[in-house]
Amino acid sequence: MSISFNEIKKLDQSDPISNFRNEFHFQKKDLLYLDGNSLGRLPKKTIHDLNSFITEEWGNQLVEGWENWINEAQVSGDLLAENVLGANSGEVLVCDTTSVNFFQICLAVVKAASNRKTIITDAANFPTDRYILEGIAKDFGLKLIIIDNEKTDVDEYERITPTILKPHLNEDVALVTFQVLQYRSGALNPVKEITELVREYGALTVWDASHAAGSVHLEFSKNEIDLAVGCTYKYLSSGPGSPAYLYVKKNLQEKLQVPIQGWFAQKDQFEMGPNFIKSPDIRGFQIASPSILGIRCVNVAIDMINRAGMKNVVLKAQEGTEVMIKLYDTYLKNLGFRLMTPRDKTKRGGHLSLMHDKARNISIALRKYENVIVDYRKPNQIRIAISPLAMSYSEVYFGMMKIKELTERKSYEKIKDFDGKKIY
Ligand SMILES: Cc1ncc(COP(=O)(O)O)c(C=O)c1O
Repeated sequence: MSISFNEIKKLDQSDPISNFRNEFHFQKKDLLYLDGNSLGRLPKKTIHDLNSFITEEWGNQLVEGWENWINEAQVSGDLLAENVLGANSGEVLVCDTTSVNFFQICLAVVKAASNRKTIITDAANFPTDRYILEGIAKDFGLKLIIIDNEKTDVDEYERITPTILKPHLNEDVALVTFQVLQYRSGALNPVKEITELVREYGALTVWDASHAAGSVHLEFSKNEIDLAVGCTYKYLSSGPGSPAYLYVKKNLQEKLQVPIQGWFAQKDQFEMGPNFIKSPDIRGFQIASPSILGIRCVNVAIDMINRAGMKNVVLKAQEGTEVMIKLYDTYLKNLGFRLMTPRDKTKRGGHLSLMHDKARNISIALRKYENVIVDYRKPNQIRIAISPLAMSYSEVYFGMMKIKELTERKSYEKIKDFDGKKIY
């Protein structure tokens, strides 16, 4: 089914969260930025809050500021839990990077199940997750099962289901870990069903929610999710290298011990005692001094989502990707593109993946000649996203029309090697 520009304008007019776009910084007004699934735009309030933190808090309070800052990883974690992750207070920390948190949590799970020797993940998982698991398996003599979900001639490309997972499960499995939303295809995995199935075998599931936070309903408590990690620089617009988060369900907090037992995890931190005694709550998962600058960026984004309402954010991600699919059907399908993301809106998030033989050169040409930023993933996929707070439906339309026109004109043929430049 097709969609006209008039219909798209009507979507913008009736969009209850369209005003949030004004809260972002736009340096180049004519840039069409369809890459918010990689790095979200800068909120204006972040500029203000960081400046005021630096001058008024760090600058004026100096070390005495720690009285207010010391628990901020938890305070921000509670805000994220309530407004974005659907978790309880005391179950989330905003800290470190996704990679560090992933290593910490996965190893804690593996150590807690010392009689079990198998880890399961999938081939389409994000590289850092796969590399970390490879390292853990090697160092601890474990078997790493990597489910092959990269075949492109299937109904649901990359999507993991209980049916796919079940044959790999047995009493030797300690840890199963997937992304909530596949970073390349944008397929949303059935987190509740998979977590339940894994639990039946006495194992735990760790979810990487990096692409899902701020684009889908996570509902960690309702879905009885055990453990998760994720980043905040995509749909949560908290800036490059902003602190990540980790989530540990209450009933697992005493049982699990992360490998890096830093001083922030110590029960009576400022007693400076001779030995490590782990804090029994979520604080037992914090390694060290939090980046207060980074946390303040995360807080701005959480506040925006809170005001916009997660329901509206998710609806816009679904509607925006629906618009993209309609435009793909009408304009891109016959230009050699192939949709790799589920058509069912309950099985995707805020981005689509389009396969094309010339994907790399199209992505480069769009940046070079058209002022359109899309994302490229090896070997042949372009990702395009709607960031519900920062974008209008019209921006999606104009961006996709540029993809159509550039591909029709074959301007990508002008791109030779582009000096071997990397595309982020
Ligand atoms: C799904 C996923 N996991 C992990 C990471 C890595 O995050 P970090 O660099 O914060 O460790 C990314 C980065 O984009 C990601 O997309």
